[in-house]
Amino acid sequence: MKVPDYRVSFRVPLQLALYLLVIMTLSIFLHLCNRFPTLQRRGPSQKAKAQPPAPAPTTERGMWTVNSIGRLGNQMGEYATLYALAKMNGRQAYILPEMHQQLAPLFRITLPVVSRDVVQRVPWRNYGLHDWMSEEYRYIKGKYVRLTGYPCSWTFYHHIRQEILQEFSFHDHIKEEANQYLAGLRGQRQNVTYVGIHVRRGDYVRVMPQIWKGVVADKAYLEKAMSYFRAKYQEPVFVVTSNGMEWCRENINASRGDVYFSGDGKESSPGRDFALLAHCNHTIMTIGTFGIWAGYLARGETVYLANYTLPDSPFLRLFKPEAAFLPEWIGIDADLSPLLSKT
Ligand SMILES: *[C@@H]1O[C@H](CO)[C@@H](O)[C@H](O)[C@H]1NC(C)=O
Ligand SMILES: *[C@@H]1O[C@H](CO)[C@@H](O)[C@H](O)[C@H]1NC(C)=O
Ligand SMILES: *[C@@H]1O[C@H](CO)[C@@H](O)[C@H](O)[C@H]1NC(C)=O
Ligand SMILES: *[C@@H]1O[C@H](CO)[C@@H](O)[C@H](O)[C@H]1NC(C)=O
Repeated sequence: MKVPDYRVSFRVPLQLALYLLVIMTLSIFLHLCNRFPTLQRRGPSQKAKAQPPAPAPTTERGMWTVNSIGRLGNQMGEYATLYALAKMNGRQAYILPEMHQQLAPLFRITLPVVSRDVVQRVPWRNYGLHDWMSEEYRYIKGKYVRLTGYPCSWTFYHHIRQEILQEFSFHDHIKEEANQYLAGLRGQRQNVTYVGIHVRRGDYVRVMPQIWKGVVADKAYLEKAMSYFRAKYQEPVFVVTSNGMEWCRENINASRGDVYFSGDGKESSPGRDFALLAHCNHTIMTIGTFGIWAGYLARGETVYLANYTLPDSPFLRLFKPEAAFLPEWIGIDADLSPLLSKT
């Protein structure tokens, strides 16, 4: 009788020890290779619950993210807003894989990416943003917040401008390509000043008048903006990028030899066009977040199209011009007569 007893009492602690060893190894492994231990504990590794791993600092700081919608300019606005608001609220920001896919090929962004798998399991609280900073955004509650909307306003992040510029610094090969292209436009000029012009056309040409009681930039606006730079700088070179290059070729007078229609004209590779604009010394934008970001990154003078909707436009409920354009930027009023003559 004693012998089996002895065997049993010997085997049980051995099994237990082995079992504990397996759990410990597993939990150390999970702890080391997983940034989100609290989420992991809800997942398949229920057994690890017996020995909860010490919470990592990232867990205490929660997990905030932002929707990844729109094209390059929107994505940049969403990224910068998440970066700034998470910081303000003492939370850890993570970007979605889709956003990483759009921004990482261009910029040396540093926010960590949340895996698709984890995105599904997080009990996100959606938090809608309007397109300017509000006092209440300093006190957003929740450990797992997903900011939503199309924020793109310096009012969210201009106080940490250097960090934002750092996040949106280009990879070396992109920088080199843009500088090489610009150097190629210089020709015999001794004292060149590059002015990037972004002409947003495409869907906006239809959407602005039909939905927003507004206009897009016309020929006269671009001429005024270019005159400003021609008067101020000795040898300006205008680098035009657009998603409607045909219109640009027909409407921008290039007879002085200082205008270069650049990029592929369709923005099928928006990153390349964007890098060109951002490497210019100054910016002429029309409308859209792409141009706003080009001006923000170029850090020179930026001329923008101002007052491009009628005063009763529904656009102005979503968009505050003073939150979109930096105070030192130079506005040129749009010609709204095409809208008025229609009504
Ligand atoms: C270069 O041009 C800028 C204005 O475009 C002018 O202020 C500056 O004096 C010029 N420099 C030289 C060396 O001509
Ligand atoms: C284009 O600019 C040149 C030089 O400033 C001017 O002589 C010409 O009339 C302009 N062409 C048009 C179509 O405005
Ligand atoms: C203008 O832009 C070019 C190209 O990025 C740069 O090499 C140059 O230093 C800039 N000039 C000034 C005055 O900032
Ligand atoms: C746009 O409209 C506002 C309000 O009428 C006016 O104060 C401003 O001077 C206009 N132009 C620009 C460039 O902001």
